Amino acid sequence: MNVSSPNNLMNLTRNTKDRVYKGSNFFECERPERYKRYSGSKIPLNTLIEENSLFSSNPVMQVLRKILSPAFGVTSVKYYKHQPELLRSVPSAGGCYPIDIYLLIRSVKGFPPGVYYYSPIENGLYFVSEQNDFTTLDLTLIELDKELDIHFIFTISPWRSCWKYSYRGYKYSLIDAGHVMFNVKVILDSLKIDHHIYTQVNPQPVRTFLDINDEEVPIGIISFNISEEQDQSIEVAPPLNSGSCLVDSKHIPHLFDWGPIYAFEQLSIPNSKPSKDWLCSSKTSPTFDYDTLLKLLTTRRSSSSFERTYISKDSLEFVLSGMYKSELPFNIYCVVHSVQNMIPGIYKYEDGFKLLKGDELRESSWEICFNQEIVKNSSIVLYFSSKFEGINDKENAALFKKYLIEAGFIGQLCYILANHQGLGVSSIGGFYDDKIEEFLELQPNEEVLLSTVLGLPEKSEKKIKEDLFRLNIPEN
Ligand SMILES: Cc1cc2nc3c(=O)[nH]c(=O)nc-3n(C[C@H](O)[C@H](O)[C@H](O)COP(=O)(O)O)c2cc1C
Repeated sequence: MNVSSPNNLMNLTRNTKDRVYKGSNFFECERPERYKRYSGSKIPLNTLIEENSLFSSNPVMQVLRKILSPAFGVTSVKYYKHQPELLRSVPSAGGCYPIDIYLLIRSVKGFPPGVYYYSPIENGLYFVSEQNDFTTLDLTLIELDKELDIHFIFTISPWRSCWKYSYRGYKYSLIDAGHVMFNVKVILDSLKIDHHIYTQVNPQPVRTFLDINDEEVPIGIISFNISEEQDQSIEVAPPLNSGSCLVDSKHIPHLFDWGPIYAFEQLSIPNSKPSKDWLCSSKTSPTFDYDTLLKLLTTRRSSSSFERTYISKDSLEFVLSGMYKSELPFNIYCVVHSVQNMIPGIYKYEDGFKLLKGDELRESSWEICFNQEIVKNSSIVLYFSSKFEGINDKENAALFKKYLIEAGFIGQLCYILANHQGLGVSSIGGFYDDKIEEFLELQPNEEVLLSTVLGLPEKSEKKIKEDLFRLNIPEN
């Protein structure tokens, strides 16, 4: 087998009945860090810390604070056999968090123009380097956006996930990144800040601009202005010291064949100039006010166990119609186990339920999803699929990557809408791709990219993950 063919990556990232990624500790090596550390000046985003007060009082900083921490910050701690794990406002397959966010500030009063790194662990912005020439970055932006002041750049470091999930970790990295990008998008919507979201970028100029190595892949950009917030009376902050990266999650080349991933990465680099096709035009429906959204994002958790009971059809329709109206490029299949006033079976949701097959399918759902108990006890399993003609040409490779990121969008939207309805939810990446195709009777070339389960969270103490989150829930 020529493992460096990009199409092989598609095969290698699929779980089939006879081949599944190995589980945790896939390679006998140290777990990679899930974030970077920088030296240099740090601007804290924590409202309680008053140092750097010129930044704290800057109105743009107040908006950035409203976005970054709820979109990607630490919201809880979980213990695995006394080993603390920091959890974020977004879910991540296996808690690997293979995503980083950089900010490019082109022109904001009070901020030196340049590259900043958001540290979710420290909830602060590190000043990485001063930049006055943005021509390299502009190579990946459409004409309109070259004037915009703020660009969030999202990168993935696949090793943080491939370490655990082998090639499937590459897929998870893109989906995880989509979860984070979608959070930024919904917050900008709630703040009524217009923005453009790139789910396709040319990684090379961005990598050069950020000065990052080949193991980190720029995969998305969100560009916007906060012009109405700018105030001419803002004082210019003192100079910042630029820093360098201290901890990086380097992959270990001799333990893993990166050929298929590199081949795919090369192929998916767009030939054409940036165009509107690179943007994701998904809609948020409904748009939440900021305070409601803040609560939904910062109290979000993945359910680990469900009561085996019925959920209401109205709540489910709220979730599904929100996802359908988002106009993301997915078919939505529903495997109903126990929803009030619905016959169990397989449905397709297209602004209403279309029954494809009535049957009791709990056992099948369970087997397809690696015998995960959470799936067996869920009230409904959702599958999001798209069509791909392989990934051997540029157009399809780029589309595959774009859709994986956007699968994270629909996954995160599912979390937000389900939480709003008081339903428990979890993304599910552990399933057999070949079994699902058979089970849902998918069209040729139709591929399920992500699944989520919904239900009523289990109340029994012993079934809940040992998670400080529940102890930390604010009283009001
Ligand atoms: C792409 C993706 C796939 C996931 N797959 C599974 C899964 O198969 N089974 C499961 O129990 N949780 C799954 N999760 C949930 C993660 O385990 C969870 O997000 C992580 O442990 C962090 O916990 P939190 O979401 O409560 O913050 C998945 C999450 C994502 C984003």
